[in-house]
Amino acid sequence: MTGKAARQEGEHRIAVYPGSFDPVTFGHLDIIRRAAKQFDKLIVAVLNNTSKNPLFSVEERTDLLREVTKDLSNVEIDSFRDLLVRYMRSRNAQVSVRGIRSVTDFEYELQMASTNRQLDEGIETIFMMTNPKYSYLSSSIVKEIAKFGGPVQDLVPPAVEAALRRKYGNEA
Ligand code: PNS
Repeated sequence: MTGKAARQEGEHRIAVYPGSFDPVTFGHLDIIRRAAKQFDKLIVAVLNNTSKNPLFSVEERTDLLREVTKDLSNVEIDSFRDLLVRYMRSRNAQVSVRGIRSVTDFEYELQMASTNRQLDEGIETIFMMTNPKYSYLSSSIVKEIAKFGGPVQDLVPPAVEAALRRKYGNEA
């Protein structure tokens, strides 16, 4: 792909925070809040990936994201079903934001960032270190606990906790 995505002077700084968000956790929310301060607009984009067998539908995931970010005026929630770099071009975004929890994350993230760079040199990836408080946290861990009716109130916002309880039919 060609063409400059680099920002012109006076242009809005638009970033995309892509992910599965199945479901959104306090770790994601921490990144969203911090990234939103760095850009004029932050688009949180849920990948609509049929091959991953998610717990929540794309609509459920975007609804939850909207609910938990409703106080952030420059955050938009969207979904995409395309190469990330192509989606970003379509949204006029220059930067992709990803959270890094550990060295283990870094290897995969480096591979993704390098792939995206190979696909489109004009797209930049920026990494943010996850708050150490949430360094162990993942959507998979949350689902694992909730499945067995364990407590997740310290890991996800109340709306997500309620949605998990409904999904699993227990008092998670
Ligand atoms: O939350 P996740 O599952 O770690 O997010 C992964 C995501 C959605 C960022 C990544 O899979 C992605 O960007 N997919 C879109 C397809 C794409 O562009 N692939 C090429 C880069 S690896």
